[in-house]
Amino acid sequence: MSETLERWGSKRAFILAVTGAAVGLGNIWRFPYVAGENGGAAFLLIYVAFVLLLGIPVMMAEILIGRAGRRGPMQALSALAAEAGASPHWRWLGLFGAFTVFCILSFYSVVSGWSIEFLVASVNGNFNGASAAEIGAGFEAFLANPGLLIFNHSLFLFMTMTVVAAGVAKGLERLNNLLMPLLYLLLLLLAGYAATTDGFAPALAWLFLPSFEALTPSVVVHAMGHAFFTLAVGACALMAYGAYMPEEQSLPKAAVAVAVLDISVALLAGIAIFSVVFAQGMDPTDGPGLMFVTLPIAFSELPWGSVWLSVFFLLLLLATWTSAINLAEPMVATLQGLGLRRSISTAIVALSVWLIGLLSAFSFSTLSEFRPLFGRNVFELVSSIPPDVFLPLGGLLIAVFAAWVMPRERVVSALGVGESGYRVWRNIIRWVSIPLTFIVLLAGLL
Ligand code: PHE
Ligand code: NA
Repeated sequence: MSETLERWGSKRAFILAVTGAAVGLGNIWRFPYVAGENGGAAFLLIYVAFVLLLGIPVMMAEILIGRAGRRGPMQALSALAAEAGASPHWRWLGLFGAFTVFCILSFYSVVSGWSIEFLVASVNGNFNGASAAEIGAGFEAFLANPGLLIFNHSLFLFMTMTVVAAGVAKGLERLNNLLMPLLYLLLLLLAGYAATTDGFAPALAWLFLPSFEALTPSVVVHAMGHAFFTLAVGACALMAYGAYMPEEQSLPKAAVAVAVLDISVALLAGIAIFSVVFAQGMDPTDGPGLMFVTLPIAFSELPWGSVWLSVFFLLLLLATWTSAINLAEPMVATLQGLGLRRSISTAIVALSVWLIGLLSAFSFSTLSEFRPLFGRNVFELVSSIPPDVFLPLGGLLIAVFAAWVMPRERVVSALGVGESGYRVWRNIIRWVSIPLTFIVLLAGLL
């Protein structure tokens, strides 16, 4: 009896951990603004297709490497490469993943800090009776104040690294998933309310009726990057979770469940946000401020608006917190693998992410015109290149390793769906996911 309970507990713990990593700013903040900048429905269509064709199979590849290796990413990769008689250099893929999450966390922490600021503002009732224009102007003024951005960035990073150092991420994941249905419900409520407004019909058309001239190569590249980003795939960050997957759990089922949940959270947020955009005559291409400006407007029209808005930002913060922990963990594990103590490793990661994050925080004021590469400032760089290039590249290598390098029997047993299920997965990843990712990456680089 206790054994069954224990197994049930860990099966569930695995789903909780992966959901915690997946659902975050990517769904509620990043999806709407990137879709807004990339033609709406054309982007959504391609992004969903990529989640199905690349995201889910590569997520399975990433987790099964961890499940077969039963160790941290670098060690698992080198052990499995040795077993297959392949190059020991495969382990550097783990390091590349750590570099990718380093870049991502540096801006993720700054934007999560915006949620802290907005939580406090909504608890204080600052949005009560404010007009759309006032809320927009307030957000601009906030971004122009680097001290405030840095304060919130520091606070968020401190919250994240404390959990990482204390090793209590599991407790937080449980809390997150207990409250996730509430976040979902709030978004449903908002989307339902949006259905009664003038913005709803144009929002649906914008999100679901693709115009094919909008479908440019750059839209395809951004859609692929976002598919990897939102599922937390391609940085070896999910790899570690495979190590504590129970024997009898089906990996494909878990991956599909997480992907469906992740897409549906993004869709609800998108419907709510674009309804406000069109009702207020705002511009869908408004950029990273889109969610922060629209949702306070949407909530302010509901009874008890500032209460719901506060609850919303609290839940959003919880969701981004568990994602940030997943971003930090592989870096700490990598340093530990080099022989450093956990506390020292955590401190080094915290300090360096904090420092690089300052460049993102200043990108909205002092450093807005500091454009080191491709005419983009630091925030624009770290919020686009790692998701659009590094994650797909990492995912591609992960897929090649699992589908072509790893010993076949190890893959069959780690997938946990028998021989025929293995063949389906292998055919998809070999002949669809790998070539598709390669082609889109190449097209993007050219
Ligand atoms: N999936 C997270 C989100 O949508 C971000 C993330 C990316 C987390 C990569 C871990 C690794 O917010
Ligand atoms: Na996500």
